[in-house]
Amino acid sequence: MKKPELLGGLTPAQFLRDYWHKKPLLIRQAIPGFQAPLPRQELFELARRDEVESRLITQRDQGWDMQHGPFAKLPALKQKAWTLLVQGVNLHHPAADALLRQFRFISDARLDDLMISYATDGGGVGPHFDSYDVFLLQAHGQRRWRISAQDDLTLEEGVPLKILSNFQPEQEFVLEPGDMLYLPPHYAHDGVALGECMTYSVGFRAPAYQELGEAFLDFMMDSIDLPGRYADPELKPTEKPAELPAAMVARIRDELNKIRFTDDDITIFLGEHLSEPKPSVFFEARGEDLSFARFFQGAKKRGLVLHRKTQMLYRGTHVFINGESFQVGRADKAILTKLADQRRLEKQEFDSASEDLLEALHQWHESGWLELA
Ligand code: SIN
Ligand code: CO
Repeated sequence: MKKPELLGGLTPAQFLRDYWHKKPLLIRQAIPGFQAPLPRQELFELARRDEVESRLITQRDQGWDMQHGPFAKLPALKQKAWTLLVQGVNLHHPAADALLRQFRFISDARLDDLMISYATDGGGVGPHFDSYDVFLLQAHGQRRWRISAQDDLTLEEGVPLKILSNFQPEQEFVLEPGDMLYLPPHYAHDGVALGECMTYSVGFRAPAYQELGEAFLDFMMDSIDLPGRYADPELKPTEKPAELPAAMVARIRDELNKIRFTDDDITIFLGEHLSEPKPSVFFEARGEDLSFARFFQGAKKRGLVLHRKTQMLYRGTHVFINGESFQVGRADKAILTKLADQRRLEKQEFDSASEDLLEALHQWHESGWLELA
């Protein structure tokens, strides 16, 4: 996982205390001698695929242009000032996945994805701010970053991307391969390619409360339990038959106010919600290609690894995997906690697994959620 130079010699605790959400940090040679694990051609091939989210941004004399992928064809390499952004590269490439996981000193519940941008000379996405923290790792060539703590975050109108109307850079750095810039949310920045370059963005997930609230109420629908039915033994005659009776409103308010959200409700909701694969994520189900006995034999010999697309979380006795939740006993919990944290189980590590757990593991293998190591 994380090496000491990744945060410029800071421990994760120091970094989180002094920089996270607070101020930018430039780390020279965060990954010494870094070489981009994906050559541009591999990135271009990802951008051809339907299930990969990509955008192409071009600067023209009249302004900015943005198109969404997939892209069968990209502008010529000798054309200046275009940028290809490919989201979620970690889902498709083992080296990109390994790189993202160097940032697991931050919970998987917060870590989002690795985006890769490729730009020709002069390319960039313009001065803007993001709503999330980001680590910008220079992967190939050079990029000049200009950044600003400005409060004025007014955006240009009528442009297809977020462009600050009044960007006033305060600091400027040229990043070389292996250099990394951390920016807190809402920090104004503008990166321009000096010659051809590639930048990797480690992105975080910070769901909007509104989104969570809507999803939570949806989730609670299945679990609220309000016995009884409205009754009014004290009913009085009315002269305004169309008026909603005040006593009825009050009585029903009291009943509905009995709905309580416990820590368990929130935990199960969050675990399912945050481990739910993104809409573009599909697993390749294996079907029953290995019988239970053969699977178990293989796992005991080789161990198991989670597929890089699998999101696994846990809290207390609850375990979540790809949007599903389970409640488990103590012995199984110890095993699943290991699987979730290490993303693998060594061969001796599931000796004490219950029959139920082994069946679940077999099922997850069939669904393509995990693999024999
Ligand atoms: C880029 O890599 O070109 C843009 C990343 C960003 O500014 O957030
Ligand atoms: Co940005």
